[in-house]
Amino acid sequence: MIAIASDHAGFALKEKLKKHLEENGIEYKDYGTYSEESCDYPVYAKKACAAIIEGECEKAILICGTGIGVSMAANKIKGIRAAVCSETYSAKYTRLHNNANVLCIGARVLGDGLASQIADVFLSTPFEGGKHQRRIDMFE
Ligand code: RB5
Repeated sequence: MIAIASDHAGFALKEKLKKHLEENGIEYKDYGTYSEESCDYPVYAKKACAAIIEGECEKAILICGTGIGVSMAANKIKGIRAAVCSETYSAKYTRLHNNANVLCIGARVLGDGLASQIADVFLSTPFEGGKHQRRIDMFE
């Protein structure tokens, strides 16, 4: 199960990504926001990350205007490894090497086609483990 959440700036892209996930048979839970009315991105980042920490979801996709605000909020939470990705190379390697469990996307940065491709790579790439786990342990 994938958690998905956004603020108002990311709402439209969240709806498009939800459709993309549905088309690919990927189950998700939407933690809001549910409209384009102005809201505070840390609230929604926290809700989706809590779903990971509580074991309800294995990964999350967070969307705000730049992807940066939600990533900062998410990375304050112990056990969350959030990465802002604007291309597929970073999405691949943050899974392989960082075991990132949260993908952060900037809705004002990317079009929905590229955002969907980035999500696909993020969700389908496994963690490599080995020496990379040692490095994660050093900051966890
Ligand atoms: C909202 O205007 C914007 O500040 C927010 O979506 C995000 O980009 C913050 O980092």
